[in-house]
Amino acid sequence: AVRKAIIAGNWKMNKTRPEAKELLEAIKPLVANAEGKVEVIACVPFTNLETAINATAGSNVKIGAENVHFEKSGAFTGEISADMLVELGVEYVVIGHSERRQYFGETDETVNKRTKAALAAGLKPIVCVGELLWERECNITEEVIARQVKLDFFGVSAEDVKKSVIAYEPVWAIGTGKTATADQAEEVCAFIRATLAKIYDEATAEAVTIQYGGSMNAKNCAELLSKENVDGGLIGGASLKAADFNTIVQAAV
Ligand code: G3H
Repeated sequence: AVRKAIIAGNWKMNKTRPEAKELLEAIKPLVANAEGKVEVIACVPFTNLETAINATAGSNVKIGAENVHFEKSGAFTGEISADMLVELGVEYVVIGHSERRQYFGETDETVNKRTKAALAAGLKPIVCVGELLWERECNITEEVIARQVKLDFFGVSAEDVKKSVIAYEPVWAIGTGKTATADQAEEVCAFIRATLAKIYDEATAEAVTIQYGGSMNAKNCAELLSKENVDGGLIGGASLKAADFNTIVQAAV
């Protein structure tokens, strides 16, 4: 890839605070050499954020949340606002992960609202898009992805989209051990960039970081990351093991 790579772990619903501290303490020295070359991020459950920020203080590991609500405050039981995350020292936030879309009723409309709220508060959103297996089989992958990119970034300025990360995660590849081939990943990441160029312009599209996610691991990362339009990875399972996560980071150095 020609842009500075961003390797982000998405821990999902894993790790207590002591376990989080242990994992980050193990990751920190391994990835220290990536400073300035690769942006290394751990997106962790809300309950781990403060522990994670303290554990990574002074290191090159940045911390992200896994979701954010779009309202500033109010009667939204169980939700967390962007200002709350910023106050903690959180820098990134995953938005619209397919698990949120599938299990928690997330739609492109709410993804768009969350993306705008995150950007307005100064957080960098990692916005997830991706087709279902059935959609790929019906040959509508590009339609699905174009629709998601257009809706999720509707009303987002060129300046703000450049601060955003887009994660291409084919739903059929998440947690299944089935990885998209490097060519499949490149094809869709390039399509996302072309879509951004249509909405914004070439220069803006060239500046956006586009990650691949879906069973990326220590074995397949090098080939995926070698692709021109794959600017990094959003890593689930393999981000829970320091050695595997580091192998992926090193593949991007
Ligand atoms: O956000 C990460 C993705 O859902 C990928 O998860 O690496 O466990 O397949 P996975």
